[in-house]
Amino acid sequence: MSRRDFLKLMAAAGTVMTFAPFVDWGKFLPNNRANGAEKTKIEIRGGEPSNIYSFKVNHSEVVIYPKTDDPVLNTEAFRTWQLIRLPLELGGGKNDVSAFRLYSMVCLHLWCLWRYESKLNMIACPCHASAYDPLTGKAYAGPASLQSPPSNVLPRLDLEADANGDLWILPPTWDARKNGVVGYGRHVA
Ligand code: FES
Repeated sequence: MSRRDFLKLMAAAGTVMTFAPFVDWGKFLPNNRANGAEKTKIEIRGGEPSNIYSFKVNHSEVVIYPKTDDPVLNTEAFRTWQLIRLPLELGGGKNDVSAFRLYSMVCLHLWCLWRYESKLNMIACPCHASAYDPLTGKAYAGPASLQSPPSNVLPRLDLEADANGDLWILPPTWDARKNGVVGYGRHVA
């Protein structure tokens, strides 16, 4: 199904969704079906590695994942993630992966792309003011915070640092109970 067909289907199904809260809609979203078998080195700003020793505290960068050879495909919202190094008070000073988060930038309300507001230590959606906790990815204000799990927690990719400190993405499982489903959400324990 193409993205356009999918959006038409979702518009037509709006009323139905009201009465079908237990359907796993994440299965129908245009996520990548194949789980990557290999880890992927993170590239920021068009190709630079992101390194735990040089990435600034309380700073963020866009990451495209999974990246393709097609520059148009690489602009898709569903491939757009944000690497955040947490502020000091949330553990961002540690030189290991615990200082970092990599979340899908697709807001779980109506799929606008959010921004990381470093001065406020928050993930903020400009469309309808949903706000997410950068530590957990959970919405705590705005319409996304009123949605039922898993549609109130951003999908998250797991990270690993190599011997040089460069960050890698571990192979994800696109399941709401694992890394989450982009545009749908993630269950947290
Ligand atoms: S799309 Fe983000 S708050 Fe509505």
